[in-house]
Amino acid sequence: RGLVVVVDGPSGSGKSTLCRRAAAALGAGYLDTGAYYRAVCWAALEDGLDLSAGAAAEAGGRDHGLDEAVAGLARGLDLRVGTDPERPFVVVRGTDVTAAIRESRISSAVSVVATNLEVRAELIARQRAAIAAQASARGVVAEGRDLTTVVAPEAAVRVLVVVDEQRRLARRALELHGTSDAAAVERTRDEVVRRDRDDSSVAAFTEAADGVSVLDNSGSLEEGVEALLALATA
Ligand code: CDP
Repeated sequence: RGLVVVVDGPSGSGKSTLCRRAAAALGAGYLDTGAYYRAVCWAALEDGLDLSAGAAAEAGGRDHGLDEAVAGLARGLDLRVGTDPERPFVVVRGTDVTAAIRESRISSAVSVVATNLEVRAELIARQRAAIAAQASARGVVAEGRDLTTVVAPEAAVRVLVVVDEQRRLARRALELHGTSDAAAVERTRDEVVRRDRDDSSVAAFTEAADGVSVLDNSGSLEEGVEALLALATA
């Protein structure tokens, strides 16, 4: 059996790049579990479901009709998530949505999908199957929010990525707006703070669970990759 490395961390922690690089170096597969939630969100919007209604309802409780509809959609969804670290892809209903699921309309609606417990049950089952398939072949580096605690707490290597707050916002600004100047960072702050709050029932990242190593990714990419590989091969 190959090595199973699972990595959690907040948005903008740089965990995707770290995990892809580490997977490539280890000759292992790569799994982006956030892509599953983004894919369900994309399909729900394509089906005309009004996810903003769910966000509005959340303040005073869940919109159960919407939750049922999204859960049913998730259970039946034709979804393929690539595991090649050099070329990750996401295909929903035969359409390549690799780029589309990164759009801000998805980022701002995805938490309604991700906090739906029936959706989580379905996607976690699929993620476990994908991790197991990779583990029995070439090993895997998987990333997300709840892998070290819920999806794969038995993994051989479990890591929580943390990063300096300014670094995190700058990274996100670069991804979203193509620049990390002061104005872009300010625009990004609202999005990031809001999604952290909306995701807080999924994972808070205030501290690492028992047996989980903390990796500070505030330095260079090379340092981060080195640190992750050191944990993975210790
Ligand atoms: O790239 P970024 O870190 O911003 O987000 P992502 O990893 O693509 O995850 C997108 C969303 O999926 C998160 O905001 C969570 O709502 C959800 N998610 C989750 O609930 N559980 C996971 N294991 C991974 C992502």
